[in-house]
Amino acid sequence: MPPADNALPRTATRASRRALLKGAAGWAMAMRLGWSGSAMALPSTNSGAALLIAPTDMMPGGLRMPAPLPGAAPRLPLTEPGRQSLDQGWLFHEGDIPFPVPTDHNATYLSVKAGNAGGPAALDFDASDWQAISLPHDWASAQGFDPAANVSQGYRARGIGWYRRLIRLDPALEGQKIELRFGGIASHATVWVNGSEVAHSWSGYTGVTIDLTPFARYGDDLNWIAVRADATVREGWWYEGAGIYRHAWLVTRPPLHIAEQGVHGHPVRQADGTWAVPVSVTLGNIGDVPAAAVVRAMVRDAAGRMLCQGSATAQVDALGQGTAQIMLRPAGAVACWSPDDPVLHDLVVAVERDGAVIDRRSVAIGFRAVVFDPARGLLLNGVATKIKGVCLHQDHAGVGVAVPDALVLWRLQRLKQLGCNAIRMTHGACAPEVMDWCDRLGFLVMAENRLFNPAPDYLAQLEWLVRRDRNHACVFAWSVFNEEPMQGTHAGKEMVRRLRATVRRLDPDRPVTAAMSGGFFNPENVGQAVDLMGFNYYQGDYDRYHALHPDQPMLSSEDTSAYGTRGAFASDPQAHVITALDKEAAGWGATHRQSWQAIAARPFVAGGFVWTGLDYHGEPTPYAWPTISSFFGIMDLCGFAKTAFGIRQAQWLDSAPMVWIDPHWTWPGREGQPIEMLAITNAPALEVRLNGRVVAHIAQADRIMGHTLHIPYAPGRLEALAIDGGKVVARMVHETAGPAQALRLTPARRALGSEGDDAMAITIDAVDAHGRHVPVAQDMVQLMVRGGAIIGLGNGDPNSHESEKGTARSLFNGLAQAIVQGDAGLAPLVLEARAAGLAPARLVVEREGRSAPPTVATEAPRQRLERWLRSPALSERPDPRLAPAAGDNNSWDSVGSSEAATSTAGMGEQWHLYRATLTPWRAVAARGGSLRFAKLAGTAEVWLDGALLGRKTSPRPAPFTLALPAGGGPRELVVIVAARDGSASGIAGPVDLAL
Ligand code: GAL
Repeated sequence: MPPADNALPRTATRASRRALLKGAAGWAMAMRLGWSGSAMALPSTNSGAALLIAPTDMMPGGLRMPAPLPGAAPRLPLTEPGRQSLDQGWLFHEGDIPFPVPTDHNATYLSVKAGNAGGPAALDFDASDWQAISLPHDWASAQGFDPAANVSQGYRARGIGWYRRLIRLDPALEGQKIELRFGGIASHATVWVNGSEVAHSWSGYTGVTIDLTPFARYGDDLNWIAVRADATVREGWWYEGAGIYRHAWLVTRPPLHIAEQGVHGHPVRQADGTWAVPVSVTLGNIGDVPAAAVVRAMVRDAAGRMLCQGSATAQVDALGQGTAQIMLRPAGAVACWSPDDPVLHDLVVAVERDGAVIDRRSVAIGFRAVVFDPARGLLLNGVATKIKGVCLHQDHAGVGVAVPDALVLWRLQRLKQLGCNAIRMTHGACAPEVMDWCDRLGFLVMAENRLFNPAPDYLAQLEWLVRRDRNHACVFAWSVFNEEPMQGTHAGKEMVRRLRATVRRLDPDRPVTAAMSGGFFNPENVGQAVDLMGFNYYQGDYDRYHALHPDQPMLSSEDTSAYGTRGAFASDPQAHVITALDKEAAGWGATHRQSWQAIAARPFVAGGFVWTGLDYHGEPTPYAWPTISSFFGIMDLCGFAKTAFGIRQAQWLDSAPMVWIDPHWTWPGREGQPIEMLAITNAPALEVRLNGRVVAHIAQADRIMGHTLHIPYAPGRLEALAIDGGKVVARMVHETAGPAQALRLTPARRALGSEGDDAMAITIDAVDAHGRHVPVAQDMVQLMVRGGAIIGLGNGDPNSHESEKGTARSLFNGLAQAIVQGDAGLAPLVLEARAAGLAPARLVVEREGRSAPPTVATEAPRQRLERWLRSPALSERPDPRLAPAAGDNNSWDSVGSSEAATSTAGMGEQWHLYRATLTPWRAVAARGGSLRFAKLAGTAEVWLDGALLGRKTSPRPAPFTLALPAGGGPRELVVIVAARDGSASGIAGPVDLAL
């Protein structure tokens, strides 16, 4: 019998417990070594049972969703000291804001100077009416659907958006290296720091790292980050979202430090069966002089035991890089990583200077031997292992591509439950957290490059991907492209040669592949330049290719592309509905059953990747408007199972017996008529009973093709039984549901963390008077939440134009989903659901107290007058109208407020005139406010638009505040400062405007 509750099968419990133990034990070791640090917090202490969903776990009463997992979603361990989350405290503006176009010479001259960016990138830009948001953020996910917008991107406007964020840097950080990191910005982006343009990003799949150090300001001088995200650009033919849709981080490092992605350790099995771990550690040095360091590395196992260690020295030039190479060789047997037992080890690196540890890093690695045998496929740790994979795009219902970490994990847990052991990240770099979870859950990953181009900008993107992901145990191959028209040409081959060489320089061990969709037999083609042949579709050509190239390993990089609408069991082309019973597929694809049959029958095909694991927004093939999302998923946009879920489980799952039968058994009005059913099991035999009577008995069940049955409808209980050795080993039951009576809310987990960013999917369904799931309910549901927010809504209907934000969503074939996020704190999240004529549902999600990861504090924006033009020293009081001559860029100094004071030593009494253009922010412009000089030295007059505003009579350096009358800008501000011989003179501190 399948487990009745969500107890885990033994292997899974062991695997996940090990993976979690690893972190805690590792920490203990780090403490012993004296590498403690507040930023390197303990990993999640959730029990191992929280990590996997038992394969056949399902709610009672016919709801095909797993029972809630215990506790809150585990978090990834913190492995990098000095890394703080920068997700909170952003301001967002949808739409572009043009830069001011200078006309006169002075303005032109200044507009191209460092620190002087204008418009929304300027230091003092008024963003007070922008929307406060936190990351990850995808503004396209809140858009309505528009038939004029791009079909492939899901008929949503994308456009251009701006973000701003204020950061305070502690003066104690001066001299440290400070990095700003973005996991990904859709699609092109420009970043400014304190008015200087610091980065261009040409791909929404590539992370952006910025060395903030030379631009940084400390203490009260705050730092403005501005980002322009241009999502008018398309990199794909699927929904790509818009904006800063992954996490952002602020990272501080000692002057001599481990570079970003600076640790590379990849265990390699030697011919004699022992393991070597070549470790390379790249150091950076922002100090003024060359520095020497001792680099120590060790590998420790899941229980925290050290397996091996070594050290080397590195010499690093000032503003240069240096690399230490250390060869580690664990003695004795090492536990190997595999999808069934994803044992991770820690590679711990410490950098010492003068005997003290100054930087450290902990990287999860796995010992696994990946060999592709041309005849036997993948040999993983010596064992022939079929790749049972899915292709995956990034987005989810409701949230678009801004998928919270807990939802990333949940999507992978659902795929693991399916029996899937591999994921192809189509068609570009995934979020880094996806890779981390793939290591821990046990997926083989094909990492994929986005744009096929060996030009330097694009090679840099590929290099970035390989560097970021090459330590991951899960990554088994690099795919350099997907379906390129040049795949069957000389030029295509030459391009791939260059991409492959780039990969192999950084990662000599993993095979390079390309997902080809033609040209396989051309005299020159890309297949001749890859280590591993990737077939997209063309399953009929497997044998011919293998016969021609018996020495080249191959796999199906993509197959299937079967269509299905979740919960629909008859196609209706008029309504753009496609039966989920695995009957229809794209012309280039095949049904789930046909495509796996072709792969399963051929040991030389190492396995395959189904297009796709989950539905995604956009690419609504075979239809177009009003359809807005795809039909290809084994699960729908929400992660609700289609019939393909049962089919793939039967084909792939070996760890537990299962059986699946579709459709449901609620067909009022069809009494006596035959209902076409698909039943499938991974057990040897299958039986179907209707109201206790055997209606089908299949002594030799086909776990690939399943069995189509026609069962006359009679309301009651339909049971499918998986039978092994005469015993029932698994069961799936459909009971005829009566009319919907009440709503029900089923959370993915029992608790939400208290950090403020934990999220989860909540299933909404309707039940009948006996608590049975009603698979045909289509009621409109109104939601209300307290203690958190609904960040997205969905129901898996590819034709629905209901908003994915807000508080209302209709059930689609019995199901809808709300993604909720808990506020920071311990107040339970309460979700209430109402629908006309149904009893309401109320769900209380408890909170789990956990400390939030280190986070950069949010600063309230305030207007600061940043720059002044200062006259030369004058021996008599100037007229307030004094200004530089037109075209004179040099006689006056451009000075910041804090450094605008001058010394008058030896100069007798003298005057300076300061000029600034002031554009008060909205509130002050409307109501007036105050102008506050934190420190003004000397006697002074302050003039605004030619009128005297106030006078400072004491020469002592002191704060000076004036009332500022209402009025919009630009306004002309003039300060005339006089000082006597020897005393400081001028604007010697920040100048702020306030209400
Ligand atoms: C493939 C392509 C995928 C998707 C799929 C739909 O050719 O690689 O991105 O478009 O077709 O069937």
